[in-house]
Amino acid sequence: MKLSRIPALATLLLLAAPAIAPAAPAALPGPGDAQSMHAFVDGLLKRMTLEEKAGQLTIIGSGIPRGELEKLIREGRVGGTNGVLQQADVLAYTHAMQQQAMRSRLKIPLWFMGDVCHGFRTIFPVPLAMAATWDPALYERVDRAAAVEATAAGVDWSFCPMVDITRDPRWGRVVEGAGEDPFLGSAMAAAQVRGLQGDDLAAPDTMLATVKHFAGYGAVEAGRDYNSAWIPPRELHDVYLPPYRTAIDAGAATVMPAFVALDYVPATADRALLTGILRDDWGFKGIVVSDYDAIPDLLNHGVARTLADAARLAFHAGVDIDLNSGTYMKELPALVKSGAVSEAELDAAVRRVLEAKYRLGLFQDPSRYGNRAVEQRVERSPAHLALARKAACESMVLLENHNGVLPLQRRGRIAVIGPLATGSIAQAAYQSTMSAVGKPADVVTILDGIRAAAGKGVQIEFAQGVAVDGDETSGIAAAVKLAKTSSIAVLVLGEDRPMIGEGNSVAYLGLPGTQLELAKAVKATGTPMVVVLINGLPLTIPWLAKHADAILEAWNPGDEGGNAVADLLFGDDDPSGKLPITFPRTVGQVPLYYARLETGRPFRPTDTYTTRYVDAPNSPLYPFGYGLSYTTFAFGPVHLDSDRLLPDGRLHVSTLVTNTGKRRGTEVVQLYVRDEVADVSRPVRQLRGFQRVTLDPGESENVTFTITPTMLAFERLDMTWGTEPGRFDVYVGGHSTATNSASFTLMAAP
Ligand code: BGC
Repeated sequence: MKLSRIPALATLLLLAAPAIAPAAPAALPGPGDAQSMHAFVDGLLKRMTLEEKAGQLTIIGSGIPRGELEKLIREGRVGGTNGVLQQADVLAYTHAMQQQAMRSRLKIPLWFMGDVCHGFRTIFPVPLAMAATWDPALYERVDRAAAVEATAAGVDWSFCPMVDITRDPRWGRVVEGAGEDPFLGSAMAAAQVRGLQGDDLAAPDTMLATVKHFAGYGAVEAGRDYNSAWIPPRELHDVYLPPYRTAIDAGAATVMPAFVALDYVPATADRALLTGILRDDWGFKGIVVSDYDAIPDLLNHGVARTLADAARLAFHAGVDIDLNSGTYMKELPALVKSGAVSEAELDAAVRRVLEAKYRLGLFQDPSRYGNRAVEQRVERSPAHLALARKAACESMVLLENHNGVLPLQRRGRIAVIGPLATGSIAQAAYQSTMSAVGKPADVVTILDGIRAAAGKGVQIEFAQGVAVDGDETSGIAAAVKLAKTSSIAVLVLGEDRPMIGEGNSVAYLGLPGTQLELAKAVKATGTPMVVVLINGLPLTIPWLAKHADAILEAWNPGDEGGNAVADLLFGDDDPSGKLPITFPRTVGQVPLYYARLETGRPFRPTDTYTTRYVDAPNSPLYPFGYGLSYTTFAFGPVHLDSDRLLPDGRLHVSTLVTNTGKRRGTEVVQLYVRDEVADVSRPVRQLRGFQRVTLDPGESENVTFTITPTMLAFERLDMTWGTEPGRFDVYVGGHSTATNSASFTLMAAP
């Protein structure tokens, strides 16, 4: 059968199919009734065989022939399927599979999961770009839209958000997270959980969220994916754990352990992490689902000799569900029979699964999460596309803008040049990794966006120049010719889809291939050159920083990327994004992040014996929190309402922010704190607040932040979490190197 015929046929089958029979009596009370849920789950557990219990702890579907999967579902040996995002018609598939589950002995409904991370059918900017908005409320709306689309297709569980902090841009998955900072990362993590899960998990348009990858995946050594991670305990608590914790406190229903070994122990087998920290310390009551095939990976890690060992280790560590490998399905019943795993522990895990399915309302109505009419109404709806355009606009960071070259005038001839301005490679790059069931062909390219926005009277011409990668340069001459006869050249450069995401770490952070050569040749024409970057990780672009007339960091901007770039280039909107991660000058500086320690030998240019390089500056090319606007902002002195903060008190920090330019614009006002002296060395500054403020020309606003002692806590010398009294400095400004400051003293408890 041709793939293109599947949707139509499946729709017919769906219309013809009888309604899916509920697994539970029609009188089953609502999903919110805890007492009925416990009684119902108790009853069900008593009737389940070991094989059926292991089945509820099994998610498979990716890469298994459909007939085989259906048989396993009918046998009650599968709890959910993860092959959904590969289907031509997701809704038809989820309903068809649910019908198979309704033919199993106990009719326990399946759940359906996938990576719904920055959209489902409408693709929004990648998570790193969303972090650059510094707008958690917007991120929540984006993930709400994604959940609305996904649930309409029957998908009730997202394997997102990824909240791994990373300070090494070589790691390909940096694109999936919120960057280097735990405070910003925590705000974005909670927003994503709220967006996906809403405030009622039983609603037909909310889905389970998964906090991943617990813990420390972002610290893979040398940035190489899946490599080992080494994080000293204090740094783990101070830097890496906070976003996971915040997401869990925001109600995240599930957690996924990291693929990697942290301090020699693979996370999937780490009981101290998955049970000790997660359940015992943090009180997590939800479900732990392994990463894809991570249980058999324990053999490669060298901590298990057989699959049975791997299953026992993972289960004992606290992994409830095996994702994709089928190891629990095969091994758990025998492990229980041999006594290696206790049935009580097995029941506890199965209970967590059944209760979560109950809360989703699946027992009451197994087909509540897929509805063709809703799907047709919400998928790529005008509201979602408008949101995608707004999100893309807010996420883009203006890195350079000399002599007011931007915004562009709507006149003359504009040369659009570069391998990522148009075409299918560009469209795939804009959607980037983890793009669910987005279709690259739907993406508005930058060439299309500029054409649509330019209006009559502006001539737009295109030359590709070079490919994204490779050493071909023959197209540069045509691009140069075009640039020479144009009033402005807009170069669209960066990375293509195969260079981004899981498994795609890089050892070089420069522009790939001959793109820099193209930029140099265009610059040599003398025509003003605006560079738009498409990429999912910080690039080292010192030449561009010095020679381009303007640089707009557009990231992987999603389906509306081309329109959003045009909105900003022509000044129909104002750039307001700020970097959520430091941009180094050269890969040799990595890891480079703003919240570093001062060291015993702080850098002094005239002193060799200070922390420095002989061949490169210490400073980044662009610091964390940096980004320009088409207007300018001035910050008044930092005012504190007291110079003392009591142990149970609060302190207000305020500053007057003024739009000193000629256009309306938005500034992200940032608050940083430094603990001057403590028993352990503390970072030179740490983000502790941010606010987006939109001001008209000449307008001022008094921006106020509140500091509480909790915000000053850290992992102390004795490895307890808390504060130390003493002096703190606060800095307020538009980036992490802001200089306006004031100081206060945190008082000791009486
Ligand atoms: C990734 C996870 C993802 C899973 C399912 C794995 O390879 O590490 O982040 O959720 O695949 O797609």
